[in-house]
Amino acid sequence: MSTPTVENEPASKIDLAESGDGAGAVESFDITLKIRRYDPERAEDAWWDEWQLTMYGTDRVLDAMHKVKWEIDGTLTFRRSCAHGICGSDAMRINGRNRLACKTLLKDLDTSKPIVVEAIKGLPIEKDLIVDMEPFFQSYREIMPFFINNSPEPTAERLQSPEDRERFDDTTKCILCAACTSSCPVFWTDGQYFGPAAIVNAHRFIFDSRDDAGDLRLEVLNDKEGVWRCRTTFNCTEACPRGIEVTKAISEVKTAILTRSF
Ligand code: SF4
Ligand code: FES
Repeated sequence: MSTPTVENEPASKIDLAESGDGAGAVESFDITLKIRRYDPERAEDAWWDEWQLTMYGTDRVLDAMHKVKWEIDGTLTFRRSCAHGICGSDAMRINGRNRLACKTLLKDLDTSKPIVVEAIKGLPIEKDLIVDMEPFFQSYREIMPFFINNSPEPTAERLQSPEDRERFDDTTKCILCAACTSSCPVFWTDGQYFGPAAIVNAHRFIFDSRDDAGDLRLEVLNDKEGVWRCRTTFNCTEACPRGIEVTKAISEVKTAILTRSF
């Protein structure tokens, strides 16, 4: 018995249920996918569409969205690239919580109710699930997310102890998906706030012993729209698909501003 495979096809398009005598068969089930749509060329206001779909136990929310786009309604619009939790392009609100569509298995959701998908909050919606990420990246650019070292270029790599590397290990994992920033109530009410993602990425360089511009970044974040706007609600930490302790990183940056020890 061979398992049918289709190169470069998502799980939803591979007919695993027909794998012979049932050994290795993947259970199928029906879902209702409900998506908040917006298209200024079609209507002034947003509206909801829903579809009944048969999906499989290995499918993710992204697979259900692909099924709609490729087989039912090609106008459904969303961002995605890697489909494996790396590029950070498919953060969306799924059942009221920010998640990556490519990392959310349908079987882990309550499929007895509609699965509700909306664009992330706090950024202008351009079409369906696509938001304008420019305000998010503007804050990211302002914290200078690159290595700055003023000493003469070394002839070999700049060494760092394992302990020094550990100081910022967690914040190197960020994939800039914006799930944290767009789950932050302060950011919803004040789009000028730098937001958790920018602070996480500042943290990555502030606590890097090889970097010389920590003071500059702390100055940027000591702004009225900087770290002090954080209300420690932990939404960001809960939303982060990479498991980064976002609130802890923000609190370490606050302490560094007060003590200048980093
Ligand atoms: S900290 Fe986490 S949630 Fe925020 S942008 Fe980075 S990966 Fe996404
Ligand atoms: S598509 Fe790349 S993170 Fe989900």
